[in-house]
Amino acid sequence: MRLCIVGTGYVGLVTGTCFAEMGNEVIAVDKDAQKVDMLARGDVPIYEPGLSELIVRNVAEKRLTFTTDLARGVAHAEIIFVCVGTPPSADGSSDLTAVTDVARAIAKMMTSYKLIVVKSTVPVGTCAALETHMATLTDHQFDVASNPEFLKEGAAVDDFFRPDRVVVGASSDRALKKLRYLYAPFLRTGRPLIEMATASSEMTKHVSNAMLASRISFINEVAALCDVVGADVEEVRRGMASDHRIGSQFLFPGLGFGGSCFPKDLASLAHVGRENGRRMHLSEAAALVNEEARQRFLARIVDHFSGDLSGKTLAFWGLAFKPRTDDVREAPALYLINSIAAKWPAATLRAHDPVAMDRAADAIVGKVEYGREYYKILEGADALVISTEWNEYRTPDFERMRSLMRAPVIFDGRNLHDLDMMREMKFTYYSVGRPTVTP
Ligand SMILES: NC(=O)c1ccc[n+]([C@@H]2O[C@H](COP(=O)([O-])OP(=O)(O)OC[C@H]3O[C@@H](n4cnc5c(N)ncnc54)[C@H](O)[C@@H]3O)[C@@H](O)[C@H]2O)c1
Repeated sequence: MRLCIVGTGYVGLVTGTCFAEMGNEVIAVDKDAQKVDMLARGDVPIYEPGLSELIVRNVAEKRLTFTTDLARGVAHAEIIFVCVGTPPSADGSSDLTAVTDVARAIAKMMTSYKLIVVKSTVPVGTCAALETHMATLTDHQFDVASNPEFLKEGAAVDDFFRPDRVVVGASSDRALKKLRYLYAPFLRTGRPLIEMATASSEMTKHVSNAMLASRISFINEVAALCDVVGADVEEVRRGMASDHRIGSQFLFPGLGFGGSCFPKDLASLAHVGRENGRRMHLSEAAALVNEEARQRFLARIVDHFSGDLSGKTLAFWGLAFKPRTDDVREAPALYLINSIAAKWPAATLRAHDPVAMDRAADAIVGKVEYGREYYKILEGADALVISTEWNEYRTPDFERMRSLMRAPVIFDGRNLHDLDMMREMKFTYYSVGRPTVTP
């Protein structure tokens, strides 16, 4: 099929590339000319495992092209996917400027029937509003469908090729037929294409993220109580998660969730609730608990140094909001670093991340020394803060760490290490919801 993808960020780039890999002819459009130039040269602006090879192959086979020219994409395609950002506004609502601009431009450019598919995460009612607006701008037939994306950064290509399900919200048979055909190769393992009303599809995405975020906040709230009453949240988690009704996913205590989706989607859902006279108490609470989790962790660091980090050297392992991505949006590590840098400019902050250091440098306000070697940044450090659970931080050489650091102190925001091991290695070890180890 001939497709146009508008927005070549994490979602658009993966979507366009995976569709091209299945034999579709894809024109991917972005307003960012620098990004388009990079992509056209075969340079991939984001880190996403497996994506680069697919882009290079599909560009070479001329199934995937990049342009800033939306009119070219619209003329080429029978289906146009809108994958632009929907960032949070100050009041928590989704800023739909980019989505609306793109829909308006498509309506003005189209000269025949088009199916416009909204993949961006949008509040319920957006597709209907776009449809009404577009109808005032064109005499040509068109459909607007909702097809939210559930991929996880770090495993996005695999998720796209092997989705748990594909959700489609559309009211026209013509639209549904096209989307069933397009997605059929991805659903050969028997996973469902779930068809529903457009509003239900929009809601499905928002509430799925709210549910996952709530699980993380739930276990973090449990961890906070464990800290006070002397229980070990890791033992509690194992006990809980073994109940098959509960399960183990998204139930890991730590610094809380970040990223471009959970925080903004919770806020947007809560905003929709308020606008419609229905408080979304659980979503609001999940956001609050998440905020408190990072604040409590920061307070623990500050307390250890008796309230003053001036002159101290802290090394951070991990900047991305989670492993296997370079995305640092709302990353807990950035909250910690920016907070410390703002209050104690005389603290020395060092950081390592396998892929996210360049992006983090753009988002960090204070002065940070970035190290390409994660042991090296421990030299003379008064403490290590583990802020992202990259695999290489899971079984480090503790003897070597002790020999490099000024003081053997670890603040583990991801509960990576075993308490007995920490005792044996004579570290002062703080984690989340577990007893503190002191040598
Ligand atoms: N990142 C994720 O893991 C994820 C997962 C599921 C859903 N989503 C949703 O998908 C949407 C996109 O997310 P993302 O992370 O890919 O965003 P992103 O910020 O990485 O990419 C958005 C892209 O859209 C481009 N853009 C903005 N306005 C444009 C315009 N008018 N014309 C052409 N291009 C334009 C930007 O230049 C950018 O390249 C959001 O609504 C997000 O909530 C994201």
